[in-house]
Amino acid sequence: MRLLVTGGAGFIGANFVHATVRERDDVHVTVLDAFTYAGSRESLAPVADDVRLVEGDITDAALVEKLVAESDAVVHFAAETHVDNALADPEPFVRSNVLGTFTVLEAVRRNSVRLHHISTDEVYGDLPLGDPVRFTEATPYNPSSPYSSTKAASDMLVRAWVRSYGVAATLSNCSNNYGPYQHVEKFIPRQITNILTGRRPRLYGAGANVRDWIHVEDHNSAVWRILTDGTIGRTYLIGADGERDNLTVLRTILRLMDRSPDDFDHVTDRAGHDLRYAIDPSPLRDELGWTPSHTDFEAGLRDTIAWYRDNESWWAPLKEAVEARYRVREG
Ligand code: NAD
Ligand code: DAU
Repeated sequence: MRLLVTGGAGFIGANFVHATVRERDDVHVTVLDAFTYAGSRESLAPVADDVRLVEGDITDAALVEKLVAESDAVVHFAAETHVDNALADPEPFVRSNVLGTFTVLEAVRRNSVRLHHISTDEVYGDLPLGDPVRFTEATPYNPSSPYSSTKAASDMLVRAWVRSYGVAATLSNCSNNYGPYQHVEKFIPRQITNILTGRRPRLYGAGANVRDWIHVEDHNSAVWRILTDGTIGRTYLIGADGERDNLTVLRTILRLMDRSPDDFDHVTDRAGHDLRYAIDPSPLRDELGWTPSHTDFEAGLRDTIAWYRDNESWWAPLKEAVEARYRVREG
């Protein structure tokens, strides 16, 4: 199979490419990535000899057309992904997430190429705290942020291209990922690298907001399962029963890094901060037989902390610029 991976130099995409090279001899990977601030050549260094790397933008219709025409399938990860950045400047989110997905869709339509579109549980908005209800495929879309609204728009485009043009696409909406190669702007790597650089962790508001954590390798194994066995036109929710509030996650990090439980600062809350995300992954498990393998969150977190400790050269050049942006926001 000739597989085109958009956004393959980002966090989840790079882990996806690593796993594909490791586990699937019959797949030839081409990565298309614009190398925004979130993309990293170093993340693909371990597989540099095994993949074709094309630097380019998913809104470049001629380039996307050429690469799609050379492929049997596309896994579309490329997007602007950070809620805080979207609040500060939504324009790149509209461009990459909406126009970029449109460009990919038009190319797969013209070339009759299979597409798997990667999306997020944030399209469903948020759930109340302390309620057993979880997101399902039938939950109405209700995005809260400029980020999630552009991801919702991209999902709608994919669904319409399936219905109107018969594009052979599947979609997945996953919960919060953690693991190696995640940008230090995101919650877990930010707190780990704050501690490693002598800064104090920073918690938005009271830390009561709940996220449903999944290890990035489990997200990617589910994507492969959907790509090979999924039903065209279907949306699959990917989650691993990992609900935890932010304060609990931060205190676990502090404990695993031998810090006292109160060794952090509360900072200004995020505007429009979604309260709780939670995925009901039963259709994926029941219909496609997928199960996560990283079921011990604390063990996964310990490995992630070790990865950031051992790979300072990967994240250190990014850290000061990220914290400078946060200083403006947090005051
Ligand atoms: P990331 O920000 O780490 O990486 C995004 C990658 O896309 C980068 O390599 C960047 O250079 C590339 N990119 C951005 N705009 C581009 C453009 N216009 N053209 C080409 N490349 C471009 O993101 P991530 O966390 O790895 O997320 C990947 C996908 O998974 C996104 O679609 C995101 O919405 C989705 N997702 C993420 C999570 C999560 O917890 N991180 C959860 C669910 C879904
Ligand atoms: O749910 C899936 C989504 O998860 C993905 O679609 C997004 O691309 C990904 O960024 C993530 O979105 P969140 O907004 O949930 O992730 P983030 O890491 O930014 O924040 C996680 C939680 O931690 C959130 O409630 C905000 C809070 N937070 C975040 C940062 C950066 C803090 O308390 N302190 C921080 O410094």
